[in-house]
Amino acid sequence: EKTLQKKLDQKRREALAMGGEQRVSAQHAKGKLTARERIEQLLDPGTFVETGMFITHRAASLGMDASHPLGDGVITGWGKINDRLVYLYAQDFTVMGGSVGEAHGKKIARIMDMAYQSGAPLIGINDSGGARIQEGVDALAGYGDIFLRNVRNSGVIPQITIILGPCAGGAVYSPAITDFVFMVENITHMFITGPDVIEAVTHEKISAEELGGTGVHGKRSGVAHFSAPDEKTIFEQVRWLLSFIPANNLSPAPEPPSLDEPTRLTHELETIVPFNPQVPYDVHQVIEAIVDNGEFLEVQAEYAPNLVVGFARLNKATVGIVANQADYLAGVLDINASDKGARFIRFCDAFHIPLITFIDTPGFLPGKDQEYGGVIRHGAKLIYAYAEATVPKLSLILRKAYGGAYIVMSSKHLEGDLNLAWPNAEIAVMGPEGAVNIIYRKEITNSDNPAQTREELTRAYREEFSNPYIAASHGYIDDVIDPAETRLRLIQGLEALRDKRRSAPSRKHGNIPL
Ligand code: COA
Repeated sequence: EKTLQKKLDQKRREALAMGGEQRVSAQHAKGKLTARERIEQLLDPGTFVETGMFITHRAASLGMDASHPLGDGVITGWGKINDRLVYLYAQDFTVMGGSVGEAHGKKIARIMDMAYQSGAPLIGINDSGGARIQEGVDALAGYGDIFLRNVRNSGVIPQITIILGPCAGGAVYSPAITDFVFMVENITHMFITGPDVIEAVTHEKISAEELGGTGVHGKRSGVAHFSAPDEKTIFEQVRWLLSFIPANNLSPAPEPPSLDEPTRLTHELETIVPFNPQVPYDVHQVIEAIVDNGEFLEVQAEYAPNLVVGFARLNKATVGIVANQADYLAGVLDINASDKGARFIRFCDAFHIPLITFIDTPGFLPGKDQEYGGVIRHGAKLIYAYAEATVPKLSLILRKAYGGAYIVMSSKHLEGDLNLAWPNAEIAVMGPEGAVNIIYRKEITNSDNPAQTREELTRAYREEFSNPYIAASHGYIDDVIDPAETRLRLIQGLEALRDKRRSAPSRKHGNIPL
């Protein structure tokens, strides 16, 4: 009996030692934690339960039969975050560079199946040299098994990837399918083809950081949703995100207690948002003034900052916020903002998180680059996502809602449930200056004093059309409200719509323009 126990202890010690002291020190020297340290930091203390500790590969070629490291370079299991169940895997770079072989892939696939069947979030911690070269097509099969499950799990359980090391070639596509990608400065490098391949093919010299670091994926490509300077901070962000979202598509989001009064008046909004529609302001301040305790978790903060998206709570209930940012490009919609908004809306809809939209936008960004880049196709995603969403949809027009952007941004016409506007809202086909130049072109050119005529006509147009009351009289706006009542009115609306159920038409799936 003693020998049995000894053997178990020895095997466990072997697995817990990962790739051995030398490789663990090399990992630390790169400024990275080991897979086991990462799991410990991410989860509630003492909650990790490991699966597949003794799994090994069964490859024989290219020297693989010389060693069979326990666990095969990935640690899997479950544990708790904020006392809620999560499943996770963490690739261990100290064992064969965390490369994905047949057994490694199967292990990840198995934990993904468990997460799916138990309706709990799946968290992947990636740190890997990619497909294990020695295992050839079996390594590729491992990735295929993971991709298939990422797609099948999508919209059923939240899937989160934390990339803490290299992530190259085929390895990038599992994270890309998941709902949220987290990266750490100087540690995460993500690309389809690395610097060496690029130099060989195009003679272009570029560093891994310039090619696929947080600066690239957080700001330019939009591949990353969150980034931080160190691993500890990124784990805190993951835990914060999970506090807002449900465990699966059939469960409600958590509702932690809040001391913020639902009836609190929001007088400060009257000064945060300048009356003059040309003067910018930071919409984060608007959001923070309205939501519970000013707590707002922004998603993709640095990508397409003209549209702000993220999670907050209103009287304890999680909401997804979508807001035009007047402080950046006057809050125009463009290709990247459309993609960002559409993806966020679809996450919220899949997990039954109500949407609150704050509108102040002059419309879509004009320009050749936008047209060549397919703003028609991308802008269409935003319409599609709003129209398709069956969760409660509440909106508030703060100032400008012009043209196509008025229709897109959660309007009544796309089945907005509660559409509110402040008294100074302007709802029209276009702004007064542009409109007057088109409809009164003759009057202005024929006038003795064109500048004065233009000014008079602009004023008249603004008085007649640039207000919320025409839209309200046609039922497109449900009410015009005082800014001070904003929080209260949104909470009342949310409570009335809490149990809204609206089924989608029966079909295999729609065909969102991609
Ligand atoms: N297959 C098999 N083994 C791999 C591997 C892979 N794809 N990637 C890394 N390893 C092994 C290395 O052979 C090394 O083994 P050793 O410790 O026994 O010497 C160990 O993992 C660590 O790798 P190393 O190259 O020393 O680490 P590094 O930090 O210097 O470089 C990478 C990391 C990822 C840049 C480098 O390993 C690399 O280029 N790997 C291949 C990436 C790739 O193109 N993969 C295919 C994509 S689908």
